[in-house]
Amino acid sequence: MGRQFFVGGNFKANGTKQSVSSIIDNLNKSNLPSEVEVVICPPSLYLDLAVHENKQKTVSIGAQNVFNKSCGAFTGEICAEQLLDLNINWTLTGHSERRTIIKESDEFIAEKTKYALDKGLSVILCIGETLDERKQNITLDVCARQLDAVSKIIKDWSKIVVAYEPVWAIGTGLAATPDDAEETHKGIRDHLRKTIGEDQAEKIRILYGGSVNGKNAKDFKDKANVDGFLVGGASLKPEFVDIIKSRL
Ligand code: 13P
Repeated sequence: MGRQFFVGGNFKANGTKQSVSSIIDNLNKSNLPSEVEVVICPPSLYLDLAVHENKQKTVSIGAQNVFNKSCGAFTGEICAEQLLDLNINWTLTGHSERRTIIKESDEFIAEKTKYALDKGLSVILCIGETLDERKQNITLDVCARQLDAVSKIIKDWSKIVVAYEPVWAIGTGLAATPDDAEETHKGIRDHLRKTIGEDQAEKIRILYGGSVNGKNAKDFKDKANVDGFLVGGASLKPEFVDIIKSRL
């Protein structure tokens, strides 16, 4: 199928100049596989530092968030043009911590995704259900709704990577089982086949996120629809390199 293995690191609002530098230094010193695409997303304050300190060709720096409009009178926001000005080529959108805590709507996330793509950024679009929704057995309905808001206004998905991150698995130490993740990823891809077409759905990478660590990452190795990971807590630790190498 040939989808390139992808590992994202979302530092969230963690770290200092010193700790971000030391994570990057550790990556710089590691012998990373040339066939794995890596994107690390430090807090926005440290993006410039990360761009300057990263020496690995296979590692890119991404933002955790971007606004849905061009630069202007939007206090506290960061616009796509500013990210590009710093040579940042990736951003996350739709992370569940923004959907649930900041109350970002599906439509707002879709607009942000569109604006970022229009300006030339690539996007890791995060989706996933809460524990309550899982208990109601509506996981795929929720993922479909979150994806449909995007496919309604975006036709070209070539610069989107989807990250399936069940909210109940984030930061809990309770990762989805590889079988459960594969089942949901397959459901997501099947849904995308219907909405964005067979070809794009086949090519798009679907990452799993939620309590991935250096030990459990290799358990997902034989899952055909798990094309990589989006890692939170473990991306701050040396074991992030083990996750990057988990498909070797
Ligand atoms: P954890 O890996 O800490 O569970 O976080 C996952 C996540 O939210 C990545 O975006």
